[in-house]
Amino acid sequence: MRALSGIQPSGRLHIGNFFGAMSHQLKLQAENECFYFIADYHALTSNPSPDEIAQNVLDVAIDYIALGLDTDKTVFWRQSDVPEVTELTWLLSCITPMGLLQRCTSYKDKVSQGFSPNHGLFAYPVLQAADILIFNSDIVPVGADQKQHIEVARDIAIRFNNAYGEILTLPEDYIIESVAVVPGLDGRKMSKSYGNAIEIFEPEDSIEKKIMRIVTDSTSVEQPKDPDKCNVFALLKLIASPEELAEWENRYRSGGMGYGQVKKRLAELMIEYFRPFRKKRIEMENNIDYVKKTLADGARRAKAVASETLARARNAVGLGR
Ligand code: ADP
Ligand code: TRP
Repeated sequence: MRALSGIQPSGRLHIGNFFGAMSHQLKLQAENECFYFIADYHALTSNPSPDEIAQNVLDVAIDYIALGLDTDKTVFWRQSDVPEVTELTWLLSCITPMGLLQRCTSYKDKVSQGFSPNHGLFAYPVLQAADILIFNSDIVPVGADQKQHIEVARDIAIRFNNAYGEILTLPEDYIIESVAVVPGLDGRKMSKSYGNAIEIFEPEDSIEKKIMRIVTDSTSVEQPKDPDKCNVFALLKLIASPEELAEWENRYRSGGMGYGQVKKRLAELMIEYFRPFRKKRIEMENNIDYVKKTLADGARRAKAVASETLARARNAVGLGR
């Protein structure tokens, strides 16, 4: 199967990105043909400065490679290096009803957070649909917050195929429900924009400090606690072995355990888990030319597929005949 996903270069990647989406994307590499890209066109919708977006693209590329993206197997590129996708976006825009986009919760959320809405932000899901459809993707590994965007892509593909013939492959989302939403330090969804995130590669002592700050309830040490209502436990579930998890669950329920203890263990596990990848990250940071060359190679491979689908779509709608 062909798996495709994109991630916006809007800052350093955090453990919500990793456990919610990246770790599944990386696992899919073993048995699938993977297409992963850095969505810089999408990032423009929040108007970053030119230097900021350029730096973020490299940071995300380095993070991905350090965490195990196999650049020989997986096609990995920067979205804007394959501008064919913006032309398909236009063809799709012309059959996308306004109502479909007006229903998208991510747009409404951004507006309610105070973003001044531009046309790019409103049309964001159509560009995302073009990303998915131009590469004939079968599955789209993402976190749960992207489910609606995949539905929009399917809906647009169905409309296009009904109007012009069977040109586009219908994609399916690939969401691992058990880790679909990783909570942040304050219990809301971990997100760059909420300032509640633990970055994968921030200094180890800073990871520990943040974990010690995770919001918990005010039950005393002696009282029994409900692990299913605890943010610390939700994060522990992502990395502790089943045996260790069962032990902590027991300690929560029987009382006599303070949140400080479980936080300390969570910090230890989290730091150990990412430690092996830090070396590779430093190696990549010192070899930016290699990272850029990798992205350029990926763009070449991606372009070959994208231009073929675009040609079929153009012909189907009657352009350039
Ligand atoms: P952010 O919300 O920090 O801006 P993005 O929207 O760039 O993160 O998300 C990139 C990928 O990571 C998406 O597939 C998204 O679903 C996933 N993701 C982001 N935050 C979380 C989270 N807290 N839990 C699970 N998945 C997440
Ligand atoms: N909207 C996605 C996010 O914010 C990023 C993205 C852009 C994407 N194009 C995509 C994800 C195509 C999957 C497929 O996380």
